[in-house]
Amino acid sequence: MLKNDQLDQWDRENFFHPSTHLAQHARGESPSRVIKTASGVFIEDRDGNKLLDAFAGLYCVNVGYGRQEIAEAIGDQAKELAYYHSYVGHGTEASITLSKMILDRAPANMSKVYFGLGGSDANETNVKLIWYYNNILGRPEKKKIISRWRGYHGSGLVTGSLTGLELFHKKFDLPIEQVIHTEAPYYYRRNNLDQSEEQFVAHCAAELEALIEREGADTIAAFIGEPVLGTGGIVPPPAGYWEAIQAVLKKHGILLVADEVVTGFGRLGSMFGSDHYGIEADIITIAKGLTSAYAPLSGSIISDKVWKVLEQGTDENGPIGHGWTYSAHPIGAAAGVANLKLIDELNLVQNAGEVGAYLTATMAEALSRHANVGDVRGEGMLCAVEFVKDKDSRIFFDAANKIGPQISAKLLEQDKVIARAMPQGDILGFAPPFCLSRAEADQVVAATLRAVQAVLG
Ligand SMILES: Cc1ncc(COP(=O)(O)O)c(C=O)c1O
Repeated sequence: MLKNDQLDQWDRENFFHPSTHLAQHARGESPSRVIKTASGVFIEDRDGNKLLDAFAGLYCVNVGYGRQEIAEAIGDQAKELAYYHSYVGHGTEASITLSKMILDRAPANMSKVYFGLGGSDANETNVKLIWYYNNILGRPEKKKIISRWRGYHGSGLVTGSLTGLELFHKKFDLPIEQVIHTEAPYYYRRNNLDQSEEQFVAHCAAELEALIEREGADTIAAFIGEPVLGTGGIVPPPAGYWEAIQAVLKKHGILLVADEVVTGFGRLGSMFGSDHYGIEADIITIAKGLTSAYAPLSGSIISDKVWKVLEQGTDENGPIGHGWTYSAHPIGAAAGVANLKLIDELNLVQNAGEVGAYLTATMAEALSRHANVGDVRGEGMLCAVEFVKDKDSRIFFDAANKIGPQISAKLLEQDKVIARAMPQGDILGFAPPFCLSRAEADQVVAATLRAVQAVLG
């Protein structure tokens, strides 16, 4: 096919890109890249550059690119039935089968799945259902949601409020008043450097409890958290964190939402992060890995405890007043069924655990000695390298120096490897597809070392 030479111009003139510096892009000062095709862990742009995607898109193409089984399932579904809604008891073979497959894999206390399109709308659903739940239980004051600084839960009005990152609040009049934030379980960035990991966990639990007591437990409905902080820096929790947090929540009758948009379906080397860390959630958010992003689909997995109250609510008030046109879209559902089958058949959860551990260990070995590498961390197929100006005193670089973005740009330029400069702090994030091989992990590590040396010496 002839290359369309106007594409770059059309892009800059017409396309409003998310999470992009709009003015620079429109003026042509920042790069644009047109992706054409992909296979395994590699994507290819229209200029023929083959790039190793060590972030699996936005940590979502978990089974890797170009899986024909999923493409065929989508095609077959589109030919047989591209769309029907799921209101008033309607469904399709794909959506019903997928609900069962999800519940078969989810923690035992889970009861039903509500389907949406993306992680943000799923968390929006969760907050609405939690408010409904407390109204049905006659607790109209119990509505606030506690999230963590550096948590990421979406970018809508409620979900952007839950997200605890400056960029998502500033100039948007967020967070809304029903959302409050508590300390992130980020041991490397603790305020008190003398604290042991155990002391830091106790501090996080005490901070949470103090917040609950300040606000009044009868005003707080739920706590939301990712099993491993994702966009906030790829930070696995310190040992004992989830146990300590759950004890506080139980004591004060506060629901727990585990946002497993990144961790669900295998990224930690376990089917769910909830299993991985012993989290007993009341609601679990799923998206990304549910279809490996072959089609948009998300879900809220609802526990027995919450479900019973929702049933009571509809007995008292009539059908639930919540639905999207595209809830349980058949094409998304067909992609989900094929994706979950493939994950099982190829044993990808195990591979994510094993090769992910290898990636983090190899990364630590190659980079830890560097004077500006403060921390190398990871869990399953998630890994991060955090940069500091001075290691011993843990003084960070000035954000204006853009060390993280410079290193990720260098990595791409020198070795055609994609890693993500995380949005808050100089942190390089890796979240490759689960099918990453050890040789590809070695390639990512060698390229990262070269990029770090090129930028920081
Ligand atoms: C943990 C988590 N929750 C929710 C979301 C929002 O999902 P979406 O971008 O599909 O709306 C994301 C996206 O990265 C996420 O990482």
